[in-house]
Amino acid sequence: MKTFWDKLPRPFLALAPMAGISDSAFRQMCLKYGADVVYTEMTAFDALHYGSAKTLEMLKFNKRKERPIVIQLFGKRPETVKKAVEMVETAGFDGIDINFGCPARKVVAHGGGITLLRDLNLAREMVQAVTEAATVPVSVKTRTSILRVTQVDKRVTVFDFIDKIKDLPVKALMIHGRSYEGGFSAPIDFDVIKQVKETFNGVVIGNGGINTPEQAMEMLNKTGVDGLGLARGLYGRPYLFQQAKEYLNKGKYKEVTLKQIKKIAVEHTELLAELKGESGMFEIRKHLLWYFRGFPNAAEWRQKLVRVESVDEVEGILKTMV
Ligand SMILES: Cc1cc2nc3c(=O)[nH]c(=O)nc-3n(C[C@H](O)[C@H](O)[C@H](O)COP(=O)(O)O)c2cc1C
Repeated sequence: MKTFWDKLPRPFLALAPMAGISDSAFRQMCLKYGADVVYTEMTAFDALHYGSAKTLEMLKFNKRKERPIVIQLFGKRPETVKKAVEMVETAGFDGIDINFGCPARKVVAHGGGITLLRDLNLAREMVQAVTEAATVPVSVKTRTSILRVTQVDKRVTVFDFIDKIKDLPVKALMIHGRSYEGGFSAPIDFDVIKQVKETFNGVVIGNGGINTPEQAMEMLNKTGVDGLGLARGLYGRPYLFQQAKEYLNKGKYKEVTLKQIKKIAVEHTELLAELKGESGMFEIRKHLLWYFRGFPNAAEWRQKLVRVESVDEVEGILKTMV
């Protein structure tokens, strides 16, 4: 059956899941400036199962503007899956992604994220539980490998994982081209991503180290993936989507002007203020620092931007920037 994954352009550009970043406001900014599909921040199956108020907040999104939207979930208890899947489907998400790539302490401490690959049977049980419960397409996100330390150390690879789930109806796989041990700075392993594209029977999204339109082209040329997942390269630059798209299609792209960045930063501020109120004004500060990083007077502006409390104040500061 055809799903939204099949209807996306090729190559398509995705906002990768980023806890603390990929909230509704940021997703809307990314879609407005060229993303073809967006992932949410990760949410725990357990937290949905037990209905924690903070987690229920994470199910909110703009049903008109944020499409297609994939919610990312993590956990290792198959018994929590059914209720969580029901909740996210009722909330209207277009797809469900399972996190097998995250090394964050809060996830790994519970044996979730990438460390779940050390127990491939349990990893499979999680995928099976989700594919059985879900009516929307299911995807997974993972890394190239993780070391399993036993009497005989063995590296569990993305290919072991793909083999383990090959009979399950998983529509898409986002591969972050670094191992668990490679953290967030090791070079991207394009060969592994290319092999994943050749091995996995579904849509493959290459992720890792795409900070410029040229790096988007490099990922595409070296791996032949169907889509590209952008993450930290988007800090203060949701318009990287548009630039990457122009470069992939025409071999050139336009630089953005300070005036355009100011406009985009104000739009983002307004959205966060509208969606999160006071805490949104706190959260926008880090984004503002990213928007104006690298400009000649950045240090002076930064001192003001880290203290902003209202949209008006942000607009006032931006007016003084030349
Ligand atoms: C702040 C932050 C939060 C992240 N949160 C998640 C997450 O919730 N789920 C996930 O699968 N990956 C998460 N990631 C990993 C990214 O999706 C991506 O795989 C990684 O940053 C590599 O891409 P990049 O080199 O383009 O940043 C996170 C990364 C960062 C920097």
